[in-house]
Amino acid sequence: MSTADQIWLNGEFVAWEDAKVHVLTHAMHYGTSVFEGIRAYETERGTGVFRHREHLDRLEASAKLYYMDLPWSKEEMREVTHELIVRNGFKTCYIRPLVWRGHGPMGLNPLDNPVEAMIAVWVWAPYLGEEGKRKGVRARVSSYRRISAQSLIPHAKAGGQYLNSVLAKIESLKSGYDEAILLDDKGHVCEGSGENVFVIKDGVIHTPPQSASILDGISRRSCIQIARDHGYEVVERNVSRAELALADEVFLTGTACELTPLREVDDLAIGDGIPGPITREIQAAFEDALYGRSPQYADWLDLVPVPSGT
Ligand SMILES: Cc1ncc(COP(=O)(O)O)c(C=O)c1O
Repeated sequence: MSTADQIWLNGEFVAWEDAKVHVLTHAMHYGTSVFEGIRAYETERGTGVFRHREHLDRLEASAKLYYMDLPWSKEEMREVTHELIVRNGFKTCYIRPLVWRGHGPMGLNPLDNPVEAMIAVWVWAPYLGEEGKRKGVRARVSSYRRISAQSLIPHAKAGGQYLNSVLAKIESLKSGYDEAILLDDKGHVCEGSGENVFVIKDGVIHTPPQSASILDGISRRSCIQIARDHGYEVVERNVSRAELALADEVFLTGTACELTPLREVDDLAIGDGIPGPITREIQAAFEDALYGRSPQYADWLDLVPVPSGT
């Protein structure tokens, strides 16, 4: 991770080292925050933020589900993000907006605590590694189940909910794997610790549906569209654990990992144990979309305006 000079915090651009909150911040104690993970890419037309508006829509939706109004409008946050990227001189970077309940009354009722916001940018390599993207990664099925709608809100990208992903990730790393696959409360395949899952069998692509407690991934939506545009049938349906190991190909999608193939699950090779041809095809098309090389998906990039005088 390479740090930036400035962070946007509650309406002001501040130096990286001055971006501080009080230790009694509600979100630090009870996880009352919502956030997004977004990436911007250097393209021939300038820096483009991938599906920026969709990410801000999901941020607003996550906030709503936790009874928070965004303290700045989505348009203000979008413009501030552009400015932050320019101020930090980044061409390609990761973007992390966070909205949280701040310091105020202690206790579980957060409704009287102020809602605060920040946006940070930094340079971040693909989450499961460049090599992982090329050769595929190894995963285990986690002993932890993905949070369900019976106790939390799988559709929200909320801070406290990520303890579930943190535990699964630690467990997978400590047992020698790169990533965890979580099943949902009914035992169906749900998703990775921070990625959606796609399973390919006999040329058809399958991915768990919204009702399987997934996060509605924006990379997932993009890859579904790309796959359909390439003529593949994509079926959103429950996927059983055994189908992972018996698949021809499996891949993960997420803003952090982009599209990363899975080559093994629970020590069983998937297909030939190397990324397969359909995965490769969709990965290449997705990368073209990310880096603005695909006219068909040009409107997925929100171009950062170049400041006048440069
Ligand atoms: C739990 C979880 N599932 C899936 C995803 C993939 O979502 P997206 O493609 O919007 O980054 C993420 C990442 O945000 C995540 O944290």
